Amino acid sequence: MSVSAPKMQGAEPKYQFICASAVLFPAFGMSKIGFAQKPNLIKFAPNIYRHTDMETVVSGIRPTGNLHLGNYYGAVTSFVKMQEEYNCLFFIADWHSLTTHPKPENIQSSVRTILAEYLACGIDPEKATIYIQSDVPETIELYLYLNMNTYIGELGRVTTFKEKARKQPDNVNAGLFTYPTLMAADILQHKAVKVPVGKDQEQNMEMARKCARRFNNIYGVEFFPEPQNFHYSQQAIKIPGLDGSGKMGKSEGNCIYLFEDAKTITKKVMRAVTDAGPQSPNSPKPEVIQNLFTLMEIASAADTYKYFDEKWNDCTLRYGDMKKQLAEDIVKTLSPIRERILEYSNNTELLDSIARRGAEKARESAAKTLKEVRQIIGFRTY
Ligand code: TYM
Repeated sequence: MSVSAPKMQGAEPKYQFICASAVLFPAFGMSKIGFAQKPNLIKFAPNIYRHTDMETVVSGIRPTGNLHLGNYYGAVTSFVKMQEEYNCLFFIADWHSLTTHPKPENIQSSVRTILAEYLACGIDPEKATIYIQSDVPETIELYLYLNMNTYIGELGRVTTFKEKARKQPDNVNAGLFTYPTLMAADILQHKAVKVPVGKDQEQNMEMARKCARRFNNIYGVEFFPEPQNFHYSQQAIKIPGLDGSGKMGKSEGNCIYLFEDAKTITKKVMRAVTDAGPQSPNSPKPEVIQNLFTLMEIASAADTYKYFDEKWNDCTLRYGDMKKQLAEDIVKTLSPIRERILEYSNNTELLDSIARRGAEKARESAAKTLKEVRQIIGFRTY
C-alpha cells in the first residue's frame, strides 16, 4: 500500500460555517438579524460552507451538572472569544460522563442543560459548531486506534485517574482508565491545534499530544498536529473553591453556578472561608485568602482588585467589604446569563435543531479525518 504523506494542518484548506444571513444580507455581515424583540437570544439560521485558513479549535464539557464559575472562566469565556477568530467546535462530552453511570432518564436533560448554558454564555451556533459527543460515532473508531498505541503504564500514571480510582474504588472501570484517549480522539478527529481548557486538564492534554506524536511516528507521517492548551491569559486558569482549598468543582460541592440568583450567590460568597485578617504589612497571603483574591482578580475590575490588595498590604482590609464587592461583581456578570439560561432551557426545539446541525458538521469533519486515518493504518478503502 502506498500512503502518500498526508499534509500537515494549515497546508490544506479548511472549512468554516458562516451564517446564511451574512451572505444573503451582506450589509448585516455576521450580525444577528431579525432580533428586534430579544437582542440577546440566538435565532438559528441555516449555515453554509466557506473556505478558510482559520486554525481549528476543539473543546468540551461533561454534562455532569450545571456550569459553574470554574467552567466559565477556565473554558467558556475563551470559547466565546475564540469563535470570532478560529474554526471552533464545542461539544458536550456525554460519553465521558458515563464513567460515573448516570441514569438513562437523566442523560438527555443534562445534555440539554449544558447546551442551553453554552448559548446563554454567548457561544453562537452561527459562528461555532456546537455538538453532542455521542452524535459523532467516528470518535469511537479513532479512540480504538489510539488505544492500540497507548500503554497501560502511562494511563495508570494520570493523576485524575488515580484520584478518581481512590474516590470511587468500587467503580474503577476501563472507561475511566482510557478517559485520556477518548479525549485525544475528540480533539484529533478534527485535527485541532488549540484546546481551551482549565489547568486541571493539563495532563490529559499531554496525553493527547503523545497520541498525536506516536501515531505520526508509528506510521511515518505528519498527519496529526500536536494540540496545545490555550487560554488568552497565556497561563492555565484554576478557579478556586470558596471553602478554603482546592479548585471549584461539582464533585467538591463548592461551586457558584451560572444559573444561581443574586441572593444565593451573595450568601455563598459571604460564607467563604477567611482567617483573622492581615497581621503585618505586605505579608504573603495564606491559601484561603489568596483564593478570594484569585477570584476577585478574574471576576472584578483591575482597580477593584488593586484597591483590596492595597488594603491587605496596609492591614486595613475588612473581609466583609471585600466579599460584598466580589459578590456584587459576580452577580453583575451572571445575572444576564441566568436570564438567558432560563429562556433557552425552555426552547427544546431550538436546542435540538442546533444539536442536529452541529452533529452534521462535526461528523463531516471527523469522517474526513477518519477516512485518511484508515488509509494510513492500512485498511482497504472502498
Ligand atoms: P470538565 O467537564 O470537568 O470541565 C470543563 C472545563 O472547565 C474547566 N474547569 C475549570 N477551569 C478552571 N478552574 C476550575 N475550577 C475548573 N473546573 C473546570 C476544565 O478545565 C474544562 O476545560 N475532560 C474534560 C472534557 C473533555 C474535553 C475533551 C475537553 C472531554 N473531551 C476534549 C477538551 C477537549 C472535562 O472533564 O472537563
